[in-house]
Amino acid sequence: MTNISKTIIIITLVLSNFGAIYGAKPFTVIANPGEDAATCIRLNWHTPIDGGGSCCRFTTADDSLWINAQRIEATQELCLTFDSIYSKSPGNKDIYEDARFLRNTVELNGLRPNTHYIYTIDSDSTIREFKTAPTSNEWTAGIISDFHAYTPLPDRVKSAMTMIDTLQSTSNRKIDLMLHVGDITAWGGSYSFWEDLYNHEPFQRYLWAGVNGNHDNMSRGYAKQSNDFFRLVNNYPLNGYPEEKGVCYHFTYGNTLFIMLNNESMRSDEGLSHAQEWVRNVIALHSSKFIIVMQHYQWFFATNGKASQYDRWKELFDQCGVDLAIAANNHVYARTGTLYDGAETDGSIGTVYIQTPSSDNERGQALQEWTDNKDIIKYRWSEGPHTIGAMLLNASDSNLNLTLYDRHGHIIDTTTIRAKR
Ligand SMILES: [Fe+2]
Repeated sequence: MTNISKTIIIITLVLSNFGAIYGAKPFTVIANPGEDAATCIRLNWHTPIDGGGSCCRFTTADDSLWINAQRIEATQELCLTFDSIYSKSPGNKDIYEDARFLRNTVELNGLRPNTHYIYTIDSDSTIREFKTAPTSNEWTAGIISDFHAYTPLPDRVKSAMTMIDTLQSTSNRKIDLMLHVGDITAWGGSYSFWEDLYNHEPFQRYLWAGVNGNHDNMSRGYAKQSNDFFRLVNNYPLNGYPEEKGVCYHFTYGNTLFIMLNNESMRSDEGLSHAQEWVRNVIALHSSKFIIVMQHYQWFFATNGKASQYDRWKELFDQCGVDLAIAANNHVYARTGTLYDGAETDGSIGTVYIQTPSSDNERGQALQEWTDNKDIIKYRWSEGPHTIGAMLLNASDSNLNLTLYDRHGHIIDTTTIRAKR
């Protein structure tokens, strides 16, 4: 072999490797909290099967020249979970999803608390961002749910993303963390719905922490149900109980412990008791100032006030000192007073239960006559089928302040939860 031939082969290998590592455009990119969100953030993104290795570059937002940027190679796994699943195209055609890709995950450790970071994936020019949690409890979260992303009806996602913009514009500080309470897709088995959703700007500029909704857990017509749909498009801490790692998880944010549940694994009494044992153990190992538990299914059928998941969890929340319980699914907002032993307290003990309204301007439901639990539910709200609402949660060391906003940025309801420990 001549020297020229050898040189051509080497150049070809270098170029093909360069293309493999830096050429593939990532998709379905998201930043999630690590177990301690002050120092650890976890990223998920996907790349084509023939895309080769993949890496992330990140630095602090004030390092505009990327002088101190660090580079980290992703852990890769082949993902065929979503492939060939019956679905819909954006043009409302029946399709089978073409979704074979590599899932890339990294855990960024040793980060600086309360700091804005920027990151890029491979050669993609999109600069995404996240902020690490502060060590104090001064932070602001947005809370949204039930927008049922469905590419044939893009106005659903547009309504929800506009609502997030409205939250941001009403907030006197940049939102640190976006919380979602599930059903962010119509069919979580439809990969194209996640890919399209994550292209929207709020997924590029915020850290996201959410729970698995029944819609996120299903494919079209309930043909397939799996918590893998939710797990594989995120990179949550692997600190849940068996079968739920990366789906149920906990993390600390400031001086608040978040515990994130999966209702789909709690339908039976046995499933509920597994989850509750895990929740008790997690709480026992933490000494956070506030404890927040989130799940998808509603605490109350707020159309009339009848109890739902409230009855299954109130005893544990009383015993474990849960401050705030957030749910969704009912598409009707409801908020209780501070409850302990089934009754309202003076706020020095007990749990506030909140469930978020829908936010897609399409799948809401109207209020009916309020017949049940009028003594413990303090406020209900819905705009009927065309509901759009979301919340801000402002934390401090002494309080959690919650505000519900409508699409116009008007305040609909507020409540304050004071620190009890
Ligand atoms: Fe829903």
